[in-house]
Parts: sequence; structure tokens; C-alpha cells
Amino acid sequence: MGPLQNLEQWDDFVGQRYKPNKDQEEFRKYDDTTPAGVREFYRLNHTHQTVDFVRAKKQQYLAKQRGKMNIWEALDYLNTLVDESDPDTDLSQIEHNLQTAEAIRRDGHPEWFVLAGFIHDLGKLLCLYGEPQWAVVGDTFPVGCAYSDKIVFHEFFRDNPDSNVPQYRTRLGIYEEGCGLDKVDLSWGHDEYLYHVVKDYLPEPALYMIRYHSFYPGHREGAYDYLLNEHDREMFEWVRKFNPYDLYSKGAERPKLEQLRPYYADLVSRYFPDPISW
Ligand SMILES: [Fe+2]
Ligand SMILES: [Fe+2]
Repeated sequence: MGPLQNLEQWDDFVGQRYKPNKDQEEFRKYDDTTPAGVREFYRLNHTHQTVDFVRAKKQQYLAKQRGKMNIWEALDYLNTLVDESDPDTDLSQIEHNLQTAEAIRRDGHPEWFVLAGFIHDLGKLLCLYGEPQWAVVGDTFPVGCAYSDKIVFHEFFRDNPDSNVPQYRTRLGIYEEGCGLDKVDLSWGHDEYLYHVVKDYLPEPALYMIRYHSFYPGHREGAYDYLLNEHDREMFEWVRKFNPYDLYSKGAERPKLEQLRPYYADLVSRYFPDPISW
């Protein structure tokens, strides 16, 4: 549990913020209209995502010692993360992944792109491992350097202990100009975790979609461009292609997993061994 009613409340908030055709004026108004739980969620996220925290989580999870599961077992497990507050109207986790994938498939994109959609939020398993919401979802941002004012609820960084570390307060902080995002620690969450679980199995553009889909300050606001290298900039085109499917594929109609299962079973089996380490 946490301040969000469920993890999707963060996704919905981002979708509202980046609603197509929204003017700049409206964009800034999120401040007054945001539900108290979402504000509190960002306050916790911005206060506690420090350099030390991110490094500790990487230590804890990147060795992938939580056990072995295949992609389907992971999806089923993620689906046990039900939303207590509104079980009828909200889509289950598996359905959000499926709707994202189906929207990508309808537009005729390559199958690895569809597959990226199908698994992109599996990192939310972190919640079932007992991680608080603020360490699972939320717009991600680099730690160890100055916080961009493009980050939503930027003012909450005031209470982050890293704000008192002079080395972390400069534009580049602990990084070098153009060092490439692979060398940058982003705030910890479901993107980075899943990237490490699947990195040996998918083509690079799919890995960028998975690893950076919540990095809205970067792929939507153009912040931190000075940390990116040329390759990141090229790959970010794919992240931007992916983003609308994640935000706007929610349909009223619930996807029928049983009908779609043969297609996805085949797709998954062509890219992933069974099981993989989590
Ligand atoms: Fe996500
Ligand atoms: Fe998503």
C-alpha cells in the first residue's frame, strides 16, 4: 500500500499530463488539480530516491536472485497485484500490457516492438517483492547531478538528502558530458529492473523502450540531453514511438487473452528461453 490507490494512478496522471492537444497553459495546471495521493506519491519519490538508494537497489536486484520464472508465470504473478479500491473498472496488469501490445501490432510494427509492449511493465513485480510504490513507478530522473526543473513536482527535491551534497548539485554532478545514459544512474523503478532481466534476449530498440519509458524528463521534455550520447539520441526515437501506445492504448473493451494467447505464446517462445532469472 501507499499513497496511490493503485500503480495505474501514476500512469493515468502521466497520460493526463501529456494528453494530445493540451496547451502549455493547461499543462502547468497539474499542480492544483492533482489528487492528494499522487502529490504525496511524488513527494516520497523525490525525497527518497538518492544516489545511495539507487545503488543499494541495484546491488539487491541486478544479480537476479529472486528465482526463475518464464514470461507467462511472471505475467500471472504480476496479475495477483490487484487493485483493491476499484476491482471492476480498472484493467488488470496483464490487460494493460496486452492492450499496449495489440495497439502496436495493429499499426504493423515489427514483432519485437509488439513483444516489448507485451512485457514492458513486468518490472512492476517489484511491488510484489515488497517495494514501496515510489520505488516502482514514477517519472524517472538521473540521480547524482542537478535536478532538472522539467521534472514534475520538482519542488519536492528540497527534502532529498542529495540536495545537500555539493558534488551532486552541479549540472554534470558525478557524470561526464555526453557520457551516455548507460553510465547514468536513474531513479530506481520498474523500467531499470526489467531491462536487466531481459537485456540478453531482445533487440536494442526494444531494450531502450523498456529501460527508459518512464524517463519523461528525457524523452518528452528534452532535459539532460548533455548526458546522452549520439546512440542514445537515435534510440530515443524508438522510446518516443513506444510512448503513445503505453499512454493511450487503454480501450473500453477488455482484450481477450485466451484468444490471443497462441500468438503471444509463439512470439515469447521465439525470443525468450524458459525460464529466465528474475
Ligand atoms: Fe511502465
Ligand atoms: Fe505501461
